[in-house]
Amino acid sequence: MKALILSGGTGSRLRPLTYTSAKQLIPVANKPILFYAIEALRDAGITDFGIVVGDTAPEVMAAVGDGSRWGIRVTYLRQDVPRGLAHAVHIAEDFMAGEPFVMFLGDNVLKGGVTDFVRRFRETRPDALILLSRVPDPQRFGVAELRDGRVVRLVEKPEVPPSDLALVGVYLFNHRIFEAVRVIKPSWRGELEITDAIQQLVDWGCAVEPHLVEGWWKDTGKPEDVLEANRLLLDTIEPRVEGEVDASELSGRVRIGAGTRVVRSVVRGPVVIGEGCEIEDAYIGPFTSIGDRCRVRGSEVENSVILEGCVIDRVGVRIDGSLLGRGVVLERAPDRPRAISLVLGDQSRARIV
Ligand code: TTP
Repeated sequence: MKALILSGGTGSRLRPLTYTSAKQLIPVANKPILFYAIEALRDAGITDFGIVVGDTAPEVMAAVGDGSRWGIRVTYLRQDVPRGLAHAVHIAEDFMAGEPFVMFLGDNVLKGGVTDFVRRFRETRPDALILLSRVPDPQRFGVAELRDGRVVRLVEKPEVPPSDLALVGVYLFNHRIFEAVRVIKPSWRGELEITDAIQQLVDWGCAVEPHLVEGWWKDTGKPEDVLEANRLLLDTIEPRVEGEVDASELSGRVRIGAGTRVVRSVVRGPVVIGEGCEIEDAYIGPFTSIGDRCRVRGSEVENSVILEGCVIDRVGVRIDGSLLGRGVVLERAPDRPRAISLVLGDQSRARIV
C-alpha cells in the first residue's frame, strides 16, 4: 500500500498567509500540519509516499526532503494547476503502479490516525473506503447519502445537504479510481471532483465502504479552522520545559523550547512556546502556540497561533483568536496622536477595539 498526500492547491481562504507560504506548512502546536499526515501514514506502516505539489513545491520539498527523517521514501508529483482532487489522483497513476493507496489531504488532521482504516481496507478489500464525520455545516464539504449502510450518493458542497455526513479528507482506493477519474467531467467550478469519481464507482456497482470516524477531524482550510486544530492538538501535548523560567507562574500543559526565557509572566496551558523566545511581563493563555524567536513583552495572548519571529510589545488589549504570520510586529503606539497605524498585506484582517 502506498500513500498519496495532496499538498498543492491555491489556499485562497488562508490568504494572506498563503501568499508567502504553503498552507500545509502552517504550524499547528508548532508543527506543520502536513507532518501530522505524514506521521499518521508512517504509523500505519506505509513507506512509499507520493506528494502532490503545485506552486509551493520548493517550500514543501525543502520542509519534507526525501522523507528519510521519518523512515519513508518520498516522490514529488508536480501538478501544473490545481485542477481538483481527482486530477491529483490522475497524475499519481504511474507512481501507484497498480497498488492500492491511502489519499490524505495535506491540510487535514485526523485524531487517531489511519492505522485501523488501513487494516480494515486490507481485510475487506473494497474498491474504495471513505471516511465520514458528522458536521454541523455540511454545505462546506463533500456529503454522503447512505441507505442501509451503503453509499448511494455523494455531492460536493450541496446547498441542500442530503445528510450531515461530511467526507473526511482521507480515502483508500484500489486501481479502479483511475478508471473513474478518466471518465468524469470537470464540475461547475472547473475542477475534477473526487466526489464525482467516487460516485462513478458507486454507479458502476463497485464496493465503496463508508466508515464513520469517531475522534475529531479538522480540515484547516480557513483561519478559524487552523485555530481549532491548534486547540485540539494542544490538548494532547506532553509538558516539557527546556528553556529558562524565573518565578513566573506556569500551569497546565506547557511546553517551552530551548533558549527561551520566561520572565515575570503567567503561562496557562495548554501552550507551546518555541525556541529562542523572550516572554516578559506577559500573560500567555490557553490554546496558544508561539513559534521560534518570538518576543512577547507586556502583553496578553490567548487562543492564538503566532508564527516564528513575531514581536508583540506592550499591546494594551488582549490578543485572542488570532493567527499571525512570520515576523509580524504588533507594538504599542505613542500616546499622541491616539490612533492605530497598520501595514497589512493584501486580504489581511484586523479587528480593532
Ligand atoms: P482545498 O482546500 O479543497 O483547495 P485549495 O487548497 O485550493 O484551497 P482554497 O479553496 O482555499 O483555495 O484542497 C484540499 C487539499 O488538497 C489541500 O491540501 C490542497 C490540495 N489540493 C491539491 O493538491 N491539488 C488540487 O488540485 C486541489 C484542488 C487541492
